[in-house]
Amino acid sequence: MAVKKETIETLLEESRIFHPDEQFTRQANVKNRDIYAEARANPRIFWAMQAERLDWYRKWDQVLDWEPPFAKWFVNGKLNACYNCVDRHLNTWRKNKAAIIFEGEPGDSRILTYWDLWREVTQFANVLRMLGVRKGDRVAIYLPMIAEAAIAMLACARIGAPHSVVFGGFSAEALRDRINDAGAKLLITADGGWRRGKIVPLKRNADAALTECPSVDKVLVVKRTGQEVPMQDGRDYWYDNLVVGVTVGGPCEEMDSEDMLFILYTSGTTGKPKGVVHTTGGYLTGVSTTHHMVFDIKDRDVYWCTADVGWVTGHSYVVYGPLANGATTVIYEGAPDFPEFDRFWAIIERYGVNVFYTAPTAIRAFMKWGEEWPARRDLSSLRLLGTVGEPINPEAWIWYHKHIGSERCPIVDTWWQTETGMIMISALPGIISTKPGSASVPLPGVEIDVVDKEGNSVMLGKGGFLVIKEPWPAMLRTIYGDNERYVREYWGKIPGHTLYFSGDGARRDYHNYFWILGRVDDVINVAGHRLSTMEIESALVDHPWVAESAAIGKAHDLKGQAISVFVTLKGKYFKELKDGSKTRAEFTSELKAHVVKKIGAIARPDDIFLTAELPKTRSGKIMRRLLRDIAEGRALGDTTTLADPAVCRELKEKYESKE
Ligand code: WTA
Repeated sequence: MAVKKETIETLLEESRIFHPDEQFTRQANVKNRDIYAEARANPRIFWAMQAERLDWYRKWDQVLDWEPPFAKWFVNGKLNACYNCVDRHLNTWRKNKAAIIFEGEPGDSRILTYWDLWREVTQFANVLRMLGVRKGDRVAIYLPMIAEAAIAMLACARIGAPHSVVFGGFSAEALRDRINDAGAKLLITADGGWRRGKIVPLKRNADAALTECPSVDKVLVVKRTGQEVPMQDGRDYWYDNLVVGVTVGGPCEEMDSEDMLFILYTSGTTGKPKGVVHTTGGYLTGVSTTHHMVFDIKDRDVYWCTADVGWVTGHSYVVYGPLANGATTVIYEGAPDFPEFDRFWAIIERYGVNVFYTAPTAIRAFMKWGEEWPARRDLSSLRLLGTVGEPINPEAWIWYHKHIGSERCPIVDTWWQTETGMIMISALPGIISTKPGSASVPLPGVEIDVVDKEGNSVMLGKGGFLVIKEPWPAMLRTIYGDNERYVREYWGKIPGHTLYFSGDGARRDYHNYFWILGRVDDVINVAGHRLSTMEIESALVDHPWVAESAAIGKAHDLKGQAISVFVTLKGKYFKELKDGSKTRAEFTSELKAHVVKKIGAIARPDDIFLTAELPKTRSGKIMRRLLRDIAEGRALGDTTTLADPAVCRELKEKYESKE
């Protein structure tokens, strides 16, 4: 594992610093820097105070029970996440406040007040109960970004059925594997969703997946696009039909603080995705606290996080964080460039969005499309901007600051992961100065360090592994069904220490600001989506033509990283390539399509290079580092451990001449 060298650019930009504006500070949710010292002096008291934001049926006996690496937060506390996100707001003036502002890609829109949301969620929950879903049953959700996605999640939380949301861009096979790993009893899907004017065939994918999902006995189908879809008798039900006459209201299941709220699959270093488990009390405390502090949320704000609910950002900062805080959250179904490049800015103008949270990859796309698109719209409602998902390059940061934030809005660059559940490193906009490209400092109550492989803190200015030193309330509790993998992958990487290993490299500067240097493992980050190189490789070797494959993340201007794959073909097929009976293009387009079928369009390789041999060490390990050098056009690094250095030199020549 090697920490990537920081770019020279990052070092140069480091001197730029933006201080909080006095006016902003005066109105900020967090105004006083003492919060850091107070939280550090007694983190348990700090988090217990934060947990008071929530409504509990019964308070906890103990804040934290820590038997490393297994944590229980708010022990014996009882609460319900749906109650906290919906019901409790009905006793306040927020009853008539917009909870969700939904805009569909075709332009349809819907505003649900907290009262409306309560009606819809309780009915949805009652439909789930009617279909036999009980506390503890897992429910898979495969929906487009429509209000029903949030409603379905909250309905599951209401009845105590952990949900497993699968991103709508995943293929049938990826859906099948996630359903089976969780043993989901019911699947909630839709006929389709809109994306760039086309229908994403969700029900069709679901049908293909379900041929191999023995645990699912019922499918609930939300009508969205309205085209014909096959419905299997006795298994598939239109939500619209079932909900007619179903009671509004009904109880929330009283859940233990440590009862599972959801499973969310993410890519790890092996081919098998990990089911990250989040529980109720700690998670909700973590996301509502951070949403309040980092986004400085006010009751009058319209808040928009552009993430899909299929990712953790959608769970924590589209649904649970904002709704627990009684905020107004925007949900937009489609693409940012449909029908034109100003769709996001049109949405901000139309609803008067105040706080906007998106990904660097999107910002780089906006830069490419040109500043005339945001300039056509009134963005003066914006007062705070955020980014998440990958390091933001300083030019993108400055562009965002200038062209979206009118040089007025603070930018919070938030570092966190599916596993952390909540934001861990970010500026608090009223009190922390920001530097373009740095996520700044850990939040109060969060202890982070940069260490070497022995677990010693590295000096300021030096790179190392980003680790978390103390448990935090929204931390993952385990990997679903695999405690051992949980211990090994997150807590066993630095022997002799109890440190959470994030898989990211980082450096701290002389102001103690963190600069994230990217992954140090086999995870790649393509347009803010986390993928494992192993997952892509196993999809490829599943194809009958392929002998071996090596996938790498190659630097890419827009996506951050692009997927580049090196493939060796089995003898017979290699001959076909050599004698010209099949062209290179025929091979590569078939192989790309295969990866899309196995994982989904998000994993489509940008380029596939067919080669006779891959560079390997004497012990037979593929040297991905050298492949990265080749793909990124650098001089080859150290080749002394290779079994045959000539293989690598030849590969480089061929790659460069695109032979
Ligand atoms: C990367 C997304 C730099 C990082 C919330 C992490 C970031 C992975 C940032 C988690 C950031 C996320 N700066 N890198 N502000 N935020 N990352 O699980 O490599 O989809 O490990 O969670 O994204 O991705 P995940």
